[in-house]
Amino acid sequence: MHFLRRAGVRGGQRVAVYGASGAVGTSAVQLARHLGADVTGVCGGANTELVRSLGAATVIDYTAGDFTQNQEPYDVVFDAVGKRKSADALRQARRALTPGGICISVDDGTPKLAARDLTLLKELAGTKAIRPVIDRCYRLEQMAEAHRYVDSGHKKGNVIVTVST
Ligand SMILES: NC(=O)c1ccc[n+]([C@@H]2O[C@H](COP(=O)([O-])OP(=O)(O)OC[C@H]3O[C@@H](n4cnc5c(N)ncnc54)[C@H](OP(=O)(O)O)[C@@H]3O)[C@@H](O)[C@H]2O)c1
Repeated sequence: MHFLRRAGVRGGQRVAVYGASGAVGTSAVQLARHLGADVTGVCGGANTELVRSLGAATVIDYTAGDFTQNQEPYDVVFDAVGKRKSADALRQARRALTPGGICISVDDGTPKLAARDLTLLKELAGTKAIRPVIDRCYRLEQMAEAHRYVDSGHKKGNVIVTVST
């Protein structure tokens, strides 16, 4: 929400979320939809249905197509992958922006959580307008395994580590 606010996402805009199937991406798709944007999700082929189910009107498999070649330009491109992996795609993405369009990355500064957004997220979760996407759950003793899976770079949404008392 921090990055969508910074980019000024609002109703009627075309927003592309690059890395739409990760933890940040699955949230960004849903929140951009909540703000009224027309969302294009960019993810691997195995995750297209998941991203569509979160509200993306268009889903592009980055292994099969180039989202910057889409016919209509984007008002906002949000990189939810991180620049270490997304640098090439972001360079291309600038060509696919409207005049005055904004390209912003999850790496562009540390998110600040505004109180009004925390309240909004609570409301949206409470009414199931947004849902957390949970891929796998691990016990605390399986922490190393959990890290290995996350380090693969292809988790779907979030990975949970349960700490029981
Ligand atoms: N999770 C958090 O709480 C959090 C908090 C702060 C910052 N961050 C940062 O935000 C970034 C994303 O983290 P994350 O936890 O959401 O997800 P992640 O596990 O790092 O992966 C995000 C998504 O990126 C896609 N991906 C991987 N390689 C790609 C490539 N070369 N090109 C395009 N897409 C690619 C994968 O989708 P496919 O499997 O479909 O390829 C994956 O679903 C990271 O840089 C992380 O450090 C995360």
